[in-house]
Amino acid sequence: MNGSRALSLWQIYENELGAFGFARYDGGNMVNPNQLLWEKGDFTAIAAMMRHSGEALVQSLGIQPPLRVLDLGCGDGTTALPLAQRGAEVVGIDIARNLVDAGNQRAAAAGLANLAFQQGDACRLEGVADHSFDLTLSVFGAMFAPKPFDVAKEMVRVTKPGGRIVMGNWIPNDPTSYVSQVLKISSAFTPPPPEGFISPMTWGVDAHVLDRFGQAGVSEEKISLRKDTFHFSSEDQSPSGLIDLFRRYYGPTMNAFEAAEKNGKAGELYDQLVDLAKAQNSSATGISISATFLRVTVHL
Ligand SMILES: C[S@@+](CC[C@H](N)C(=O)[O-])C[C@H]1O[C@@H](n2cnc3c(N)ncnc32)[C@H](O)[C@@H]1O
Repeated sequence: MNGSRALSLWQIYENELGAFGFARYDGGNMVNPNQLLWEKGDFTAIAAMMRHSGEALVQSLGIQPPLRVLDLGCGDGTTALPLAQRGAEVVGIDIARNLVDAGNQRAAAAGLANLAFQQGDACRLEGVADHSFDLTLSVFGAMFAPKPFDVAKEMVRVTKPGGRIVMGNWIPNDPTSYVSQVLKISSAFTPPPPEGFISPMTWGVDAHVLDRFGQAGVSEEKISLRKDTFHFSSEDQSPSGLIDLFRRYYGPTMNAFEAAEKNGKAGELYDQLVDLAKAQNSSATGISISATFLRVTVHL
């Protein structure tokens, strides 16, 4: 991507950039800001509301073992566990050590010897051999890695010829894509990121997806793009309880609240997020929020 194109992307998505955290030095060592961001919170608290949709998504993949699957940006295994329960040999890779540990605990509790979680970066899958997976899946995971062209190349590299890559990505500027709206509101309360930062939300735009996989050597006719829906559901949560969870456990929203608190605007941020959750909630007693995402399927 040349400089002027990067700048125009910046301008288009600037409202959704700020909550993702930037480089920091720790005792003289560069700490991966992406890792810091996700280890700062505890995504398991949010993931608990996504289990049904994770199951449904895996169901829709038509898993037929024997099959080796990489779940990239797997969190604590919302999709990795159902994949393994269907008999696939699954490796979950995530940048956050706390989520890798949580995933391994869930796998052990479920007695799944065919599922292992390990730490790794979607931008550079060190130690992962070329063409080693039949399916590479990434549900709202790899989209958050900071170098999208490297991510596309890595996903193509580790997937077998004849295999599949499936991604789920939130869609920017789409009022039905709940999490993109949460991030948009959050970013309005955080300082702007450095020039050149590419918003994760760009993975929800057809042209960028085609461009990134195109540069990884995949032609357009091998890529299908369609909208799909994920559901956040809980009988035990209210809209304000949901935002309390995002505030305490979801890295990008935690950053937004920290910045808003410094400016005396935390109440305003909270109210906007609760209003959004109320507007999108269809349950009278708990939480049921539908969230549109871009489902990307690449046939190699
Ligand atoms: C929104 S969570 C989704 C987790 C899981 N896929 C799910 O659906 O429950 C995003 C995940 O991506 C992971 N992640 C972010 N950047 C990453 C990177 N560069 N490499 C690997 N994982 C990353 C985070 O640690 C986090 O677990």
